[in-house]
Amino acid sequence: MPEELLSRSFDLHSHDFDKAGEISTEIKGMLKELGIDSQVIRRVVVVCFEAEMNVVMYADEGTLTFVLTDEDINIEIADCGPGIADVDQALEEGWSTATDEMREMGFGFGMGLPNIRRNSDSFDLRSKVGVGTTVTSTIRLDGLG
Ligand SMILES: Nc1ncnc2c1ncn2[C@@H]1O[C@H](COP(=O)(O)OP(=O)(O)OP(=O)(O)O)[C@@H](O)[C@H]1O
Ligand SMILES: [Mg+2]
Repeated sequence: MPEELLSRSFDLHSHDFDKAGEISTEIKGMLKELGIDSQVIRRVVVVCFEAEMNVVMYADEGTLTFVLTDEDINIEIADCGPGIADVDQALEEGWSTATDEMREMGFGFGMGLPNIRRNSDSFDLRSKVGVGTTVTSTIRLDGLG
């Protein structure tokens, strides 16, 4: 069993564009201090940022849980929100329901979920309409996938 070294949990709030991105930045700083490989950090930051933004843009409330073990980093982003009716479609590059306002802010390319999947060694997306969505991602520390 991998040994758990560090665990942190962060609250996420919908439409909180001012604070959006703060959690990814905090996690980045934490991993740098721990001397984690920069490629691994880059992947973790992509996963956290994209998932964080999705909660801010589409959900009501959420929690990002971050667990570092001696083998990998596990990230779970669980939200209460509208959920996703067709998970396969949401994972297609370019598919987006972003509003014009979100697109003006530079979001809504439909690349967040595909990027999370691409940067994960193990990835899962579960969603229930009217209940919420949970994204889980594991990134190995040795970068061997
Ligand atoms: N947590 C969520 N709750 C509800 N719907 C979501 C959630 N995350 C993603 N979606 C839906 O899946 C679509 C695709 O998400 P994805 O992150 O890939 O792209 P995007 O957010 O639209 O654009 P980008 O991430 O490039 O800014 C979203 O437009 C939205 O309809
Ligand atoms: Mg997105």
